[in-house]
Amino acid sequence: MGILSGGGDAPGTNAVIRAVVRKGILEYKDRFLGIRDGWKGLLEGSSIPLDLERTRGILPMGGSILGFSRTNPFKHKDGVTKVLESFKKTRLGALIVIGGDDTLGVAHKMGALGLNCVGVPKTIDNDLAVTDYTFGFNTAVSIATETLDRLHSTAEAHHRVMILEVMGRYTGWIAIAAGIAGGADAILIPEKPFSVAEICSYIKCRKERGRNFSLVVVAEGAKPKGGKEVLYGQKVDEFGNVRFGGVGYWLGREIEKSLEIETRVVVLGHVQRGGTPTSFDRILATRFGIGAIDLVHKKEFGKMVALVGNRILPVRLEDVVGKRKRVSLEFLKVAEVFFG
Ligand code: F6P
Repeated sequence: MGILSGGGDAPGTNAVIRAVVRKGILEYKDRFLGIRDGWKGLLEGSSIPLDLERTRGILPMGGSILGFSRTNPFKHKDGVTKVLESFKKTRLGALIVIGGDDTLGVAHKMGALGLNCVGVPKTIDNDLAVTDYTFGFNTAVSIATETLDRLHSTAEAHHRVMILEVMGRYTGWIAIAAGIAGGADAILIPEKPFSVAEICSYIKCRKERGRNFSLVVVAEGAKPKGGKEVLYGQKVDEFGNVRFGGVGYWLGREIEKSLEIETRVVVLGHVQRGGTPTSFDRILATRFGIGAIDLVHKKEFGKMVALVGNRILPVRLEDVVGKRKRVSLEFLKVAEVFFG
């Protein structure tokens, strides 16, 4: 059996690998190959044997012992043929694919070409459909919340506006969760274009009440009404994703232009993806890993394990891929009670 992790890293990936290998070896007598760097490893024939010894002690480790990449075999000359050949050559019976929408999208298409794949939902963005949570999200939110708590005291001490820019290209799950947990005075997400005037009115309103500091959380993919997302550059990856970044700085300048209040910006960046997973993510990732190896042995290919309520259930990849889970405006309303 093969395992690969693709896309951007998420804390908890090693916990999935450990659970799959442990249950696979002890209960099913499986043998494992770890594919290096996502789909790239199958393109290039790069893998390592995985056993109990190799997966010992990895539970609390961030990153992935297998590495990650945003390689899309469908974008490479003869990429699909190479993946299929590599699969045959290594005599893999099945492949457990740990990934977000892009990586699982490849698994779905490869399934149609005869590859036996089972998916595990991973992304700090939490934007995969059907599953209530992806692993990695809880860790990212915890880091962002702790950052907000720290910014709170310095913002208050200096009477400043502090803007925290967090990840979330297409959805604002990290922004809204950390914003609610950290008591943000405004939260800006891609699902609802924002108005600078409205944010300034929140800050002014607080000042009038003697609260002469404010905390604003903005998801990197948020955009002003009638405007565009702020991009870091023009480059796109093999899945067509652009690199966001800078909306926080743009907003900071706009606030300073409108109000006489010093505004500082913190871009959390990859800090929110690195390091050790929270206990929630370790448990969820472990449950996903156990669920995935069981699905393989039930021969339920073309499916992904999902957290639905408190149960781990199999769902069809075709019901997940390309169907982004967005923050509802109802949830945003909960946060809005505390704005201004
Ligand atoms: O897909 C998850 C994600 O964390 C996005 O929120 C973010 O835009 C992106 O990854 C950044 O990825 P990379 O590290 O490849 O630039």
